[in-house]
Formats: sequence, structure tokens, C-alpha cells
Amino acid sequence: MKHETIETNAGWLIFLTLIVISIGGLVEIVPLYFIDDTVETVKVDGKDAVRPYTPLELRGRDIYQREGCYTCHSQMIRPFRDEALRYGHYSLAAESQFDHPFQWGSKRTGPDLARVGKKYSNQWHVQHMKAPRSVVPESIMPNYPWLLTNKLNYKDIENRLRALKMVGVPYSITEAEYEANVDRYGKATAELLDINKATRNLEAQAQSGNYDGNRDDITEMDAMIAYLQVLGTMVDFKKFEDGYFTKFR
Ligand code: HEC
Repeated sequence: MKHETIETNAGWLIFLTLIVISIGGLVEIVPLYFIDDTVETVKVDGKDAVRPYTPLELRGRDIYQREGCYTCHSQMIRPFRDEALRYGHYSLAAESQFDHPFQWGSKRTGPDLARVGKKYSNQWHVQHMKAPRSVVPESIMPNYPWLLTNKLNYKDIENRLRALKMVGVPYSITEAEYEANVDRYGKATAELLDINKATRNLEAQAQSGNYDGNRDDITEMDAMIAYLQVLGTMVDFKKFEDGYFTKFR
């Protein structure tokens, strides 16, 4: 059949378009019925490796969204060799299970940030946020100097954690929820996920991390860098055998 025949006959065009779309749909949807879980089990020594964000990291993530960083940066490394060579292991579903909203996508005006954590020093990030072209001359990323001067607003941090808890992120309020987190993540992490201690935890992390290089007050830069530095670092892939994660695909 000539292409022209299809293009000039609406009936044929609709019919054949539907067939093509159904094949694409089936290839994507049918496999989902044959796997038990779409989120991988990622345990090290019996404890879940991927934890929800700490209060400070979460505020950093809020600012990341406020500033529209996602309009240029995805957080999803696809399972292709070139991506793995450039960014590291492909992103696991487990790694973004607590992200609301998730940051997947393919919009990459800038590089993918799914594994940017620990790649640079805090000092590099401060300089890069303030004036990207001072460290990467050809960069087209905008300057975000106000992150250094804006004091971080965290008055409502407990409510932010509570809201995420409502959609299933395991922050704890009651003693029983706290104990469940101790079993799941270990004591140190369970402490960080306790909503009753959120303000104290946020201040302590900003103080000890000293992300913006100034301990006098907590700025939006402290939160942003705390967030960037944890991205992609929760799963230590060296602890898993080759091929372990392919079982879930
Ligand atoms: C207009 C598009 C654009 C926006 C918006 C943008 N960036 Fe970028 N970003 C880039 C480009 C391009 C690069 C690569 C050049 C460079 O390092 O500056 C980059 C690089 C980066 C890097 C270094 C990544 C690496 O692996 O080297 C980080 C971290 C980063 N951006 C964070 C952010 C954050 C946080 C925001 C929001 C506050 C943001 N970006 C907003 C375009 C953008």
C-alpha cells in the first residue's frame, strides 16, 4: 500500500494509527502484570538503604522546586550504557520512592542530577550557585545569589513532614511509628525521621554540615546543598552483586 493512500484516507489513517499505538501500549503495559513489585528491595545488613529526606534536605528540595531547577535538570539516569558511563548506575525506582513530586524526566538543558551528591565539595556548590560561570565558563545556568543571603524559613517544617506522612512517607509521630523506623532503618536514621524532633534535627544538620561555609545562620543555600549532596548517594552499589537489580526489571 502506498503511503499516500494512507495519508489521504482518514479511515485507513485512524485504523492503522490505532494499531501502531496499541502495539506500543502493549509492549509497555503487559510486562507490568508479570512482576510482583515495581520498587526494588534495597537492603544492606537487613536495613532499608533508601530513607526519606531529613528536614534540612527536604527544605532544600522545596527550594529546588521553587527555583524551577527541574526545568533544566532531570533526576533519572536511564539504563543505557552511555548514561551509565556518564552518570553512574541507572536510577532505581526505590531511589525516588519518597519523592513527591518525583523529578524524573528527560529535560536536560543541564546534566542529570540524580547522582550529583558528593561529586563536588560544598564550597564548589556555593560558588557554582552564586555564579555558575565563575567555575564553568561556558555554563548557561542562571545565578542564584539570593540563596546565600535568604534565611531559611523552617517554622512550618513539622507540618511539611506531616503532609508527606499523609501520602505514605514514613516519618514518625507516635512511639510505635518511631520503633517501626528503628527496625526498618536503624536508630540513627529513625531519629532523623521523627517529626517531634524536626526543628532540632534541621538546626543540628545545618550546624554540623556547615554547607554554605557560614555557621552564623541557616540560609537557603545550606538546605539546597544538603539536598544536592545526598542525591544518588543512599545506595552503595558496591554492596550488591552484579545483576542483582536486573531481577526486578
Ligand atoms: C537554564 C537552565 C538551568 C537552570 C534553570 C538550572 N541549571 Fe543547573 N546547570 C545548567 C547547565 C547548562 C549546567 C552545566 C554547566 C554548569 O556546570 O554550570 C548546570 C550544572 C549544574 C550542576 C552541576 C552538575 C554536574 O554534574 O556538573 C548543578 C549541581 C546544578 N546545575 C544545580 C542546579 C540547581 C540547584 C538549580 C536551581 C537552583 C539549577 N541548576 C538550575 C542549567 C541550568
